[in-house]
Amino acid sequence: MQNIEKIYDYAPTEERFMDAVVDGLSQEQKQLPCKFFYDAEGSKLFDAICELDEYYPTRTELALLESHSGEIAELIGPGAELIEFGCGSLQKIRVLLSAVKDPAAFVPIDISREHLVQSAKDLAEEFPALTLRPVVADYTQPLDLPTMESVPKRVGFFPGSTIGNFTRPEAVRFLKVVADIVGRGGELLIGVDLKKDEATLNAAYNDQEGVTAAFNLNILERINRELGGDFDVDAFRHHAFYTKERGRIEMHIESLKDQTVRINGSSFDFEPGETIHTENSHKYGVEEFLIYAGEAGFDPVQTWTDPNNLFSIHYLRVC
Ligand code: AVJ
Repeated sequence: MQNIEKIYDYAPTEERFMDAVVDGLSQEQKQLPCKFFYDAEGSKLFDAICELDEYYPTRTELALLESHSGEIAELIGPGAELIEFGCGSLQKIRVLLSAVKDPAAFVPIDISREHLVQSAKDLAEEFPALTLRPVVADYTQPLDLPTMESVPKRVGFFPGSTIGNFTRPEAVRFLKVVADIVGRGGELLIGVDLKKDEATLNAAYNDQEGVTAAFNLNILERINRELGGDFDVDAFRHHAFYTKERGRIEMHIESLKDQTVRINGSSFDFEPGETIHTENSHKYGVEEFLIYAGEAGFDPVQTWTDPNNLFSIHYLRVC
C-alpha cells in the first residue's frame, strides 16, 4: 500500500509474555496483564463484544463521535498529526478522518500485529491521500514514535474507555506520557465510560451469549498455544463484577476445582474458587475524570455525553 510508509514493529516478544505470565501467576492474588488478551483470536473476540446488545460503550461512543464530528474536526484544525493508542479495528478513527481537514499523518498504535496490519491496509485503501505510519507496540511501555518534526499540532486519540484498564494513579501516569508525546498545545480526544447503575455495568461484562467469557478465557488458551501451558480451560470460569468502592469492573478467571497447571517447567496450584485477576475497567464521573486529566497536565476544552449518560468523550489540551 503506497500510503503506508512502513510498519514500525516493537511488539513484545514471546519471552516477555512468558515472564509476565510466570510473574503474574506467582503473586498472592494471581493476575495476568489484560494487554495479553489481544492475540489474533482475542482481537476477533473483542470485536464481537463491541457488537453485543449488552456492551453499550462502542455504539454509544461511535454515535457521539458521529454527531459531534464537525465540532471535533474544527477543534483539531487542518494539518494535524493524529496518533491513536490501541486502535483495534480502526472503526472510530474513520469518523474523524472523514471530517478532519488535511491531516498530516495518522499513527495508529496497537499490540496486535496481524490485526493492525490488516486494519491499516483497509484504511489506507479507503483514505488514499492519508499518510499512515502503523506502530505495533505495547504503548504502556516507553516507545519512540515515528512522529513528524514540524506539524502545526499533534492530537492523540484514545477511544473505547481503554483508559479504564489503568488504575486511577496509573491513568494519570499514562496521560502524562500522552501529554509528553503531543507536547505543549497538543491535544487529546479520549473516550471514558461513565459510572452508572450496577445492573447495566454488570450486564455489559456478563453477556448472555458468553462472548466476554470466551474473550477472558482465551488468555488461558493463548498460554497453552504460545507457551506450551496445560490449562484445562473447562475447569475455569469467567467471573466479572462491579465494585462500587473501587469504581470499577473487575474481571477474573475462577478455578472450578483443586488443580495444578504446568507452563514450560513452572507449575501453579489453584484452589477451588481461587481466581486470576485479568482486567480492571474503571468508570468515572465527568468531573472526576477531568480532575485526573488536570493532574496529568491537561486542560478541559470540551466534554460530550450521550442523552442516557452512559459514556463521555473529552477534548483536552496540554497546558
Ligand atoms: C477495551 C478495555 C475498554 O474494559 O470495557 C470489554 C475491554 N473487557 N469487555 C473494557 C473489555 C471485557 C474493554 N476495553
